[in-house]
Amino acid sequence: MKDFDTAELERKFQEKIDKDIKIEPKDWMPDDYRQTLIRQISQHAHSEIVGMLPEGNWITRAPNLRRKAVLLAKVQDEAGHGLYLYSATETLGADREQTIDDLHSGKAKYSSIFNYPTVSWADMGAIGWLVDGAAIMNQVPLCRCSYGPYARAMVRVCKEESFHQRQGFEIMMQLAGGTPEQKAMAQDALNRFWWPSLMMFGPNDAESKHTAQSVKWKIKRHTNDELRQQFVDVTVPQAEMIGLTIPDKDLKFNAETGHYSYGEIDWTEFWEVVKGNGPCNKERVDARRKAKENGEWVREAANAFAAKRALKKSA
Ligand code: 3HC
Repeated sequence: MKDFDTAELERKFQEKIDKDIKIEPKDWMPDDYRQTLIRQISQHAHSEIVGMLPEGNWITRAPNLRRKAVLLAKVQDEAGHGLYLYSATETLGADREQTIDDLHSGKAKYSSIFNYPTVSWADMGAIGWLVDGAAIMNQVPLCRCSYGPYARAMVRVCKEESFHQRQGFEIMMQLAGGTPEQKAMAQDALNRFWWPSLMMFGPNDAESKHTAQSVKWKIKRHTNDELRQQFVDVTVPQAEMIGLTIPDKDLKFNAETGHYSYGEIDWTEFWEVVKGNGPCNKERVDARRKAKENGEWVREAANAFAAKRALKKSA
């Protein structure tokens, strides 16, 4: 049984949410709200950092200097998004080391999409176009999230995300307009990344354990299915414009609703990948664990330098 004070605090909290007053780090908030944000923002941060790996795989193999510079800039942006979001979790009292260790131990999730291999240069186009396109769909509403630091971080992230999506679509457009082999490579990348991109939005609303409460707390401004539908409606015409075919025989435009209906997502595949049984899960987490081990000497040197400087100051 909640005591009167807690019930009153919760009432006042929800009133602020309902009036679109941002919740700031020092404000009172229900622990469940805090924990939901730490869960979502830390997984978002992990996704940004792990998301660097599939693309990093092609930086040394980009077809020309311009493509290499653009991909390098994008991957660096993702690192910055991850650090931004880890900082946002710290405003909620999360410990960064523990958060990162949770990724390395397999306890924390990150977006399923990054557990698929990148086997051709066209995959760099498909990831920018589809994965960053889906991320924009999901991140723009987060700019209006009820938690201040997350909403403000998203404003900066979304500005960079639109460059990511455009550079990806430009790669696909060039390949689709190139030789038959290049067009086939672009179509193959679309075939492999289309359905996993739809899975990025999470389970159907009926299966989503967090959506209802996250919508009530205005962490989510739209449900998983609403954002997925928006993504399909925007992306199908883009594919048609460059002469690529969406790999879904059930895809159909409904002139009355103005939406595309689409085939059933393979939720068994989705949950297998989320559970760690995707094509690249082990490789991705091993790479992050190795990066931490290899960077240990840098942290030790920085801490030793900081300690020495603090000693000098206090002398
Ligand atoms: N991959 C892995 N796990 C997923 C998932 C996915 N695509 N979709 C859902 N899940 C997990 C959830 O984390 C939750 O598990 P948990 O309770 O252990 O955390 C469970 O499945 C139930 O899903 P829900 O829909 O109920 O969970 P959420 O309300 O958290 O919704 C979400 C999932 C839509 C991904 C939401 O967390 C969200 O909007 N997160 C912020 C955006 C984000 O993280 N995007 C990931 C990609 S980032 C990116 O692409 C970077 C870009 O630069 C390329």
